Amino acid sequence: MVFTDVELGRGADATVYEVDWNGTFCAAKRLHEILLKDQAPGGAEKLIKNFEAECLTWSKLRHPGVVQFLGVHMDRGSRLPVLVMEKMDTSLRAYLDNHSKEEFPLHQKAFVLRQVTQALAYLHSQNPPLVHHDLSPNNVLLNVVSCVTKVSDFGLSRAINPSALTRRTSIKGTQAFMPPEALHNPPRYNEKLDVFSFGNIVISTLTHEWPSPGPPNQYHGERLVALNELQRRELYVLLFTAKEKQLFQSVVSSCLENRPDKRSSSVMLVQKLRRIESTLLSRGQVAAPIQHLRQQLSAKEEECRQKDEVIKEKDEVIKEKDEVIKENDAVIKEKDEALQAKDIVITTMQADMQQLRRQNRVS
Ligand SMILES: Nc1ncnc2c1ncn2[C@@H]1O[C@H](COP(=O)(O)OP(=O)(O)O)[C@@H](O)[C@H]1O
Ligand SMILES: [Mg+2]
Repeated sequence: MVFTDVELGRGADATVYEVDWNGTFCAAKRLHEILLKDQAPGGAEKLIKNFEAECLTWSKLRHPGVVQFLGVHMDRGSRLPVLVMEKMDTSLRAYLDNHSKEEFPLHQKAFVLRQVTQALAYLHSQNPPLVHHDLSPNNVLLNVVSCVTKVSDFGLSRAINPSALTRRTSIKGTQAFMPPEALHNPPRYNEKLDVFSFGNIVISTLTHEWPSPGPPNQYHGERLVALNELQRRELYVLLFTAKEKQLFQSVVSSCLENRPDKRSSSVMLVQKLRRIESTLLSRGQVAAPIQHLRQQLSAKEEECRQKDEVIKEKDEVIKEKDEVIKENDAVIKEKDEALQAKDIVITTMQADMQQLRRQNRVS
């Protein structure tokens, strides 16, 4: 496996690089080395143990909506495990940041979001259910030409006890996407944690914004009133167009319920997203219209052509360097030969001198 020069992205714990794995380009996730150095005693071991747990969890998952785990590679230099997986084009976060609403139309968004709900339904159908725990646009990856969407990053995922809410002493994850029960001390949660995060993903996908919640209380005159989770994100929901509101408002509300038991299940979300998608498709829009595909394809082809040119240029430089090395080799060879010839002359002269000396002694 060879690391190319391409960095695909970085998160809080790891950097993901492009690698050439026997001729197939894949993605390889490696812990930040700086994190390992900065830890208190035992901290680095804990980080590595968590990373190994992530590899183990991920290795058991198989679904079209989950980035495919391929294997673990032991890095010879650092002796650290590297997680190798299928390579995707970009994260939903980067795609939203780099595209306008016109460039990322609603029917494609519905297609992307439906695939996320299917991945969630798969994770939650495990026995015991697997809670992703850090669902955000950073951990949803896309292939841009096809809009194929997959969930990744199982660093915080946990199997939960289905008969009770899981307890943990502390909780990590993307704060803006976390439900209230996860932020309590101690946190108690189940798979509805992911449903809440998904509601925030819907807001983010529709608005191209990061939906940081407002404060939990607000003054109404003299009175301090508690706001629910949906109200805390009202600023973003107000950005929905009439059509977005009509199609997505009820999904968002059903995900952002304060109480986990009131939220939709992931299986229900799949049905809801399917319905939204079919409404959009019946208006003659297909998930990835051919014109759009063509444009993206030619952009990709152009990208490949440019990469080819860079490779060709590099090849040329290598060829030139090879020639210089060859010339240097020839010069060294010539010098070697000249030295050898001089050696022969010296040896012959020494032999002649010895002969002369001998003759002098005899005479
Ligand atoms: N398979 C992949 N293909 C392409 N890019 C990826 C892939 N996996 C991760 N990335 C990029 O790397 C970033 C960090 O990866 P992630 O696994 O989320 O690390 P962390 O656990 O530190 O958050 C992602 O947000 C994404 O931009
Ligand atoms: Mg991540």
